[in-house]
Amino acid sequence: MLWSSSIAVVAALSNTASAQLNDAYSPPSYPSPWMRGGNGWADAYTKAQAFVSQLTLLEKVNLTTGVGWEGESCVGNTGAIPRLNFPGLCLQDSPLGVRDTDFNSAFPSGMNVAATWSTRLFKSRGNAMGSEHGGKGVDVQLGPVAGPIGRVPAGGRNWEGFSPDPVLTGVAMAQTIQGIQDAGVIACAKHYIGNEQEHNRQAAAPYNFAYSANIDDVTMHELYLWPFADSVRAGVGAIMCSYNQVNNSYASQNSYTLNYLLKNELDFQGFVTSDWWAQLTGAASALAGLDMTMAGDQGLASGDTFWGSNLTAAVLNGTIPQWRLDDMVTRIMSAYYKVGRDTHKVPVNFNSWNLSTYGYQHPEANEDFTQINWHVNVQDDHAALIREIGGASTVLLKNTNNALPLNKPKYIAVIGEDAHDNPAGVNSCSDRNCDIGTLAMGWGSGTANFPYLIAPNTALKAQAASDGSKYTNVSDNYDFDAVTAAVTGADIAIVFGNADSGEDYITIDGNQGDRNNLTLWGNADALIAHVASINPNTIVVLHTVGPVIVEAYKNHPNVTAILWAGLPGQESGNAITDVIYGKVNPQAKSVFTWGKQREDWGVDVVYTPTSDPPQLNFNEGVFIDYRHFDAAGIEPSYEFGFGLSYTNFSYSNLVIQKQNPGPYEPTTGETSAAPTFGTIDYNAADNEFPPGWHAVKDYVYPYLDGPVPTGLPQDWPAGAQDGSPQPKLPAGGSGGGNRQLWDTMYTVSATVTNTGGVKGTEIPQLYISLGAPTDPKVVLRGFDDLILDPGESETFTYEVTRRDISNWDTASQNWVVSTYPKTVYVGSSSRNLPLSGALA
Ligand SMILES: *[C@@H]1O[C@H](CO)[C@@H](O)[C@H](O)[C@H]1NC(C)=O
Ligand SMILES: *[C@@H]1O[C@H](CO)[C@@H](O)[C@H](O)[C@H]1NC(C)=O
Ligand SMILES: *[C@@H]1O[C@H](CO)[C@@H](O)[C@H](O)[C@H]1NC(C)=O
Ligand SMILES: *[C@@H]1O[C@H](CO)[C@@H](O)[C@H](O)[C@H]1NC(C)=O
Ligand SMILES: *[C@@H]1O[C@H](CO)[C@@H](O)[C@H](O)[C@H]1NC(C)=O
Ligand SMILES: *[C@@H]1O[C@H](CO)[C@@H](O)[C@H](O)[C@H]1NC(C)=O
Ligand SMILES: *[C@@H]1O[C@H](CO)[C@@H](O)[C@H](O)[C@H]1NC(C)=O
Ligand SMILES: *[C@@H]1O[C@H](CO)[C@@H](O)[C@H](O)[C@H]1NC(C)=O
Ligand SMILES: *[C@@H]1O[C@H](CO)[C@@H](O)[C@H](O)[C@H]1NC(C)=O
Repeated sequence: MLWSSSIAVVAALSNTASAQLNDAYSPPSYPSPWMRGGNGWADAYTKAQAFVSQLTLLEKVNLTTGVGWEGESCVGNTGAIPRLNFPGLCLQDSPLGVRDTDFNSAFPSGMNVAATWSTRLFKSRGNAMGSEHGGKGVDVQLGPVAGPIGRVPAGGRNWEGFSPDPVLTGVAMAQTIQGIQDAGVIACAKHYIGNEQEHNRQAAAPYNFAYSANIDDVTMHELYLWPFADSVRAGVGAIMCSYNQVNNSYASQNSYTLNYLLKNELDFQGFVTSDWWAQLTGAASALAGLDMTMAGDQGLASGDTFWGSNLTAAVLNGTIPQWRLDDMVTRIMSAYYKVGRDTHKVPVNFNSWNLSTYGYQHPEANEDFTQINWHVNVQDDHAALIREIGGASTVLLKNTNNALPLNKPKYIAVIGEDAHDNPAGVNSCSDRNCDIGTLAMGWGSGTANFPYLIAPNTALKAQAASDGSKYTNVSDNYDFDAVTAAVTGADIAIVFGNADSGEDYITIDGNQGDRNNLTLWGNADALIAHVASINPNTIVVLHTVGPVIVEAYKNHPNVTAILWAGLPGQESGNAITDVIYGKVNPQAKSVFTWGKQREDWGVDVVYTPTSDPPQLNFNEGVFIDYRHFDAAGIEPSYEFGFGLSYTNFSYSNLVIQKQNPGPYEPTTGETSAAPTFGTIDYNAADNEFPPGWHAVKDYVYPYLDGPVPTGLPQDWPAGAQDGSPQPKLPAGGSGGGNRQLWDTMYTVSATVTNTGGVKGTEIPQLYISLGAPTDPKVVLRGFDDLILDPGESETFTYEVTRRDISNWDTASQNWVVSTYPKTVYVGSSSRNLPLSGALA
């Protein structure tokens, strides 16, 4: 009954929403909120103020503006302050390891670590990645990712993030950020916001504009903004705004998303940097809340800039008030002090553009030939963590008659290119721009070089040798004769397949970032069918960037087990061998829904937009992934949260205790007036290039490039230059939103028991029905990982917060607890929820 009413409501909502959302408009919100040093930023703010107060105008501008593409060693570099021996900031990809260097680790993808559902592993991975970035001299690690969250299953970069569920993603963001920043490196949550597909994320012929993600206010708060709120609450130092538009206003100069949502409502105290060349205006983007521009040039190595000398001029002629510039720089330096860069920093010791020891310090200009790489080994003992996450993120989807784990089989056959090495070498495809050999990472800027990559074939062969098992392997997905010979008579045939995706600047086999289909690549579906037609004990292993259609073999009697291993990073083969041989008992649960056909998701990539700007109307609202499958009554192949173990667990004894935190109070009052730090020398002559200055080719500088323009027509949005006290928002007032949103309303507990024969880890999941006909059937709110011996029981406890039971109310611009009856559920997946009770 709930389902049918929801379907009707979804349909009704979609109809009205599509009328409203097409050509949606983003309201202006000015002035840009200045930081106040709240939410645990007080010490950092004090230090930053002292630093910024000493700076000249040119020095301040230098910190806001990148030096241009390939101007220095990192993928992004701000200008320096030589007078104070301050080298400028190094910003470096990626969300899974240090990109474009050597002697670094290649970590499992965000999607993989999410599949462990272990906050310990979220944080450990963040901390290990942070320490590797720090060891290379990086100030800002460009990750983690909550946008894309994974609205469309074929979205090219979904694997860089965590999961289409905002709560799982939010927890993973917060833990990863804390891990990175505990290592003394600034984390950068990205891509803010609505960056849900690769096609048309930037203007590209024949389109003049990037797509506009048209998102209604409720969906923004309950879905896309949610994990960014968790990031802000976790103290993230930086946020990267994205290429796309939101409601037909570019996300890197959208005053509503930056000033209203991020800096006012979420009370973000750090700095906003643009994605590389996502900035498209000068003074307008500064007023709309952008604090740093990357790579600093207007286009790739174009030599010109919207800021740099243009920002200097805009301050000198009064268009950008001093308080706004000071706020940009204070936010940047506060993030620097907050994570302890002043005590942790080592000089940058690598170069993104050349792995040779000697090369050009300014590669775009081919200037300053010198030592550029010190080849510092930052891997520490992270291989063990990578292997652990690899095993803990492998989802056991099917296991007929305990086919797994294997125990000294007599004869095993390992089939498929995806089990094997890339014959040309692990890093032969730059930014992983090929799908050759085993897949352990997607493609694009969200990658790192492999120090090595253990292919499954290597590790399984070693295991077979130590067991005395006969072993055959075939890497060619098309050589069915060889495959027939290899699997005939084998006790077990393990067949590997993959599906790849990545960032739009690389196209592989016709897939421009986003996947063109949801099937396996390189004949792997046919290969699985062939092996299963011969061998009655066929085990399928999937290395995929997201869901693939598994219906053809899911119920095949000869396919006795299916494992999803995702993108496990450098220890891939060892991790899958640990699981297949039972050295690791699977704990992972799927972080997305597996549909039976592509149409089941209800939303898809728009490959060829019919308007310019392309309009992507998020008409489905909050109904993505499992929320859609539940509401539309569609049976998936495997549901969100599903995963088997080598043991069994039971759930009992749900206890709900109501707490009394008192009523919710909207935040009221006003901010103080915008402060300024130090004095600005408004004499234009003092802001010109120093005499005899050698300007490096295509390098971006803060010095004036000509006369300061005055008297140009001005039509800045009302209030944009106003530094007087401003009203606070009812839902704002502290990091991530009103602090009372985190009050505990109920304490819910349940008993989880290991009823099987081996030790294992269970992921109890807590879902809530918010009760309105317009709400999803259930939404995830809490989870834990409990390690249980056979026969052992443990209590799973979750504190349900006010935020957990609230809906966003557009009229009051606040969270409200609706009067609809609310139910809490606990169980092992989004569709296996044996315990339930009323939240009364
Ligand atoms: C986008 O437009 C919708 C529909 O008018 C509105 O609800 C929402 O708040 C707008 N969001 C932004 C970021 O402009
Ligand atoms: C700005 O930064 C550049 C290096 O990126 C440096 O050469 C220049 O001296 C800096 N300017 C000032 C005024 O500090
Ligand atoms: C300042 O911005 C204008 C307009 O985009 C551009 O033409 C000019 O080259 C910029 N100046 C510099 C020094 O980059
Ligand atoms: C890297 O540096 C070496 C010199 O050490 C030089 O020969 C080579 O051309 C450089 N490569 C690139 C891509 O700049
Ligand atoms: C089996 O694996 C080895 C690497 O261990 C590889 O060289 C060989 O080509 C594979 N055999 C087949 C038939 O693909
Ligand atoms: C799906 O795309 C992959 C990669 O381009 C390709 O190998 C495969 O053949 C496609 N599947 C179908 C059914 O066309
Ligand atoms: C399963 O494998 C056996 C060989 O052991 C084969 O005879 C049978 O046809 C296979 N079943 C299917 C459905 O392909
Ligand atoms: C789990 O329980 C099911 C039935 O309740 C049983 O078929 C299966 O063998 C058990 N699995 C394990 C690993 O104990
Ligand atoms: C001040 O300079 C900036 C940057 O060139 C320009 O955008 C702005 O219009 C100028 N303001 C006035 C009043 O001319």
